[in-house]
Formats: sequence, structure tokens, C-alpha cells
Amino acid sequence: MTNEEKTFEVKIERLLPGGVGLAHADGLTLFVSLAAPGDLLRVRIDRVQGAVGFASIIEILKPSEKRVEPPCPYFGRCGGCDFQQLTYEAQLQAKVDIIRDCLHRIAKLEPPGHIPITPTANEWRYRARASWQVAAEEKLLGYFEGGSNRVCDVEYCAVLSPPLQETLEQVRKELATRDVRQLRHVDVVAGDEGVSVAPAIAGLNARTVSRSIGGEVYSFSADTFFQVNHELLELLIDAALGDVRGQLAIDLYCGVGLFTLPLARRFARVTGVEAHPLSAEFARRNLERAKLENVEIANLGVADWVKHSRSFEVLDFLLLDPPRVGCENAVVTGILALRPRRIAYVSCDPATLARDLKKFIADDYILDSVAAFDMFPQTHHVETVTRLTARRQL
Ligand SMILES: C[S@@+](CC[C@H](N)C(=O)[O-])C[C@H]1O[C@@H](n2cnc3c(N)ncnc32)[C@H](O)[C@@H]1O
Repeated sequence: MTNEEKTFEVKIERLLPGGVGLAHADGLTLFVSLAAPGDLLRVRIDRVQGAVGFASIIEILKPSEKRVEPPCPYFGRCGGCDFQQLTYEAQLQAKVDIIRDCLHRIAKLEPPGHIPITPTANEWRYRARASWQVAAEEKLLGYFEGGSNRVCDVEYCAVLSPPLQETLEQVRKELATRDVRQLRHVDVVAGDEGVSVAPAIAGLNARTVSRSIGGEVYSFSADTFFQVNHELLELLIDAALGDVRGQLAIDLYCGVGLFTLPLARRFARVTGVEAHPLSAEFARRNLERAKLENVEIANLGVADWVKHSRSFEVLDFLLLDPPRVGCENAVVTGILALRPRRIAYVSCDPATLARDLKKFIADDYILDSVAAFDMFPQTHHVETVTRLTARRQL
């Protein structure tokens, strides 16, 4: 009998980075999808890689106290939400444990005794940005199924904000009645004026929309990056900036300027760096509307920018908020050469965050604080803000 045909009775020990449950059976470490800590399960091993087996649940023999009935009918097939089986409390705890695990195992750090996590007000219907996948020939619209490129057709998505759910229905109607064979995916974002959609479909287009956050107005469109959960952004900015003030600050991976505008009010000079031309253009326009003239936006990749950047006599503060992959090695080396007195690293992936933090701490930085924000309820994803100070203040 192969591993794929055998089933095993296992107890889930805890949840790991990536959101999978840890168990052991048949001499293997098992990563069990959609599990809850404490579950007693019958599982099937779908794939083995070295000493690790990737397993799925056949039967819940004894549910954990942290388990709830996932309310979404697409749960288990849609690759979008992998934490709906957990109570909200257990989701928050798992995210803190995941951060702690990454800091300990990857960054080789003793994590702080307490890592605060800020919950979101809305556990459902919070997503103000989404990317939908399309299989035009079969008229399917939704998200990829877990671990595949098959589109899971989703009529109602429980984490979408109401304007985006309405847009999903509009796009679905268009898909049913029009020939849209070229369409592969649709990006949508909601702002105060309505919804921006790229590419244009169902009478909707990538128009500019905006949001007011912490007294600043940010414009953006479906073609640019803007954060998914707008409720927590003011708190996220406060946590990243704290009480910093001074002469010079740098905002790497600045997008349309979420952190750049508040930094411009606290520092005499600010440089923002963003590779995406349209996002950089929106950042410039957002600054112009706020009449903030002390900022330069460099439309460059961060690796290129750090390579060519001149050195500064004193760099008070550097904020970085890279995509999930974290920073290239050259970026960390370049930041270390600039010697910022304080750093705030905002991250949506605790594993790449920990990998990069290890390099900062091996150099000359002390980890001051770690704070988590539940920007993505019902999924294992979490936003983390870490702050560092240089030991030697130049
Ligand atoms: C996680 S987002 C953060 C944006 C912004 N800080 C915010 O919170 O809205 C990452 C941003 O980095 C940009 N980006 C990705 N890779 C980059 C690179 N190598 N150099 C510069 N910018 C990059 C993306 O276009 C995106 O705007």
C-alpha cells in the first residue's frame, strides 16, 4: 500500500508558518491543511518530500475546542481562506505563534514575551481589494483552488466588502453574456467614490478612487497596490512610525505613499522609493494634493536605488514595507551601508521578515518591538511591524 492509500490517526500539535497543522506519523513530519490545534484527525498523505508529508483531512475524529464550522460553502476547495475552521481567538493566537516561531527558528532570536496582535473590527466583509481569476471558456470567476490553477467559481465571497461583492456579481453577469475570451484575471479595489476595476469590464474601469486615513487622502486605482484592509491602517501607521521625528527619513517600497505622507509631516526631508511607475505617480500626486513639498519619489527598484544612493551624514529613520518575498540581499546590504538610526520593517510574511531581521541584528541593530495586525482574518496571513535601533549611533 502506498502512502497515498494509507490513512493515519494523528493529533495536531500546533499550527505552523503557512497555516498548516503539525503532526507526526509513519516516521514523517506531517503538514495537515485546514486543521485546528488539538484536533484528533484521520488524514491521508497526498505528497511526500524528504521527511515531510503533506496531508489532508479524511475525518475529524475529535474536534479541537478551537474548531468551528466554516460558514463558507467554498471552504476547502477555494484557496482563499484557510483559517475559517478556527474561532477568531484561535486565529489570532495562531498568528502570534507563527510570528514567534519564525523569529525563534529563522532569525534565531529570543522573541519578546508578549507580542500584541490588534484584531480587526470586521472578521468578515473586510476586503477592499481583490484579484479574481477567470476561466473565460467555462465562464468561471473566483479564486484558484488550493495548490492549483483551477478556478473555483465563487458567487458569494464572505470576506469581500459589500461594494466588491456587488462588483463580483456585475462581472459575473458580463462573463455570462459577453465573449471575453482574453480575460484571465480582474483586479478590483474599493475607495470612497466606488470601485476601480482593471481591466475595464461591465461598464467599470481602472478609475482613480481614494481613501482618507489618519487625516491624509490617498488616491489609487486597481492597477496599483493599496492595502487590503482599510480599517486597521491608521493603527498600522502609528505603530510603524511611533514618535519618530527628525531631519531625514526614507520610505522603501512606498507604493502610493501610505507611510510617506505622515513621514513628510515629521521629517524635514523624505525620500520614497517605488518601482511601479503608476504607483510612484500616485505617490507624487498624493503629496502634491497635501501640499507636502519636502519629498522626492524615486521611481526605481530598491536594489538599484540603494546601489546608487549617496551616503547621508545622519539618516534618522528608514521604513521598509516590501512585498511577500522580502528584501533581496543587496537591499539589506545597501540599507546597512546607509546606517539608519532607526528602522521600521512592515511585513506581510513572518518567514521572510525573520530571514531579513537576522541580517540586521547580526550587523548592529537591536530589536525594540514586534506588533501584529490582523489585516487578513479567515486566512493565516498576518501583518507585522518590527522596530529596530542601531547600537552605535553615528
Ligand atoms: C507591500 S506593498 C507596500 C506599499 C506601501 N508601503 C503601502 O503600504 O501601501 C509593496 C510595494 O513595493 C513595490 N515593489 C515591489 N518590488 C519592488 C522593488 N524591487 N523595488 C521597489 N518597489 C517595489 C510594489 O509595487 C508595492 O507598491
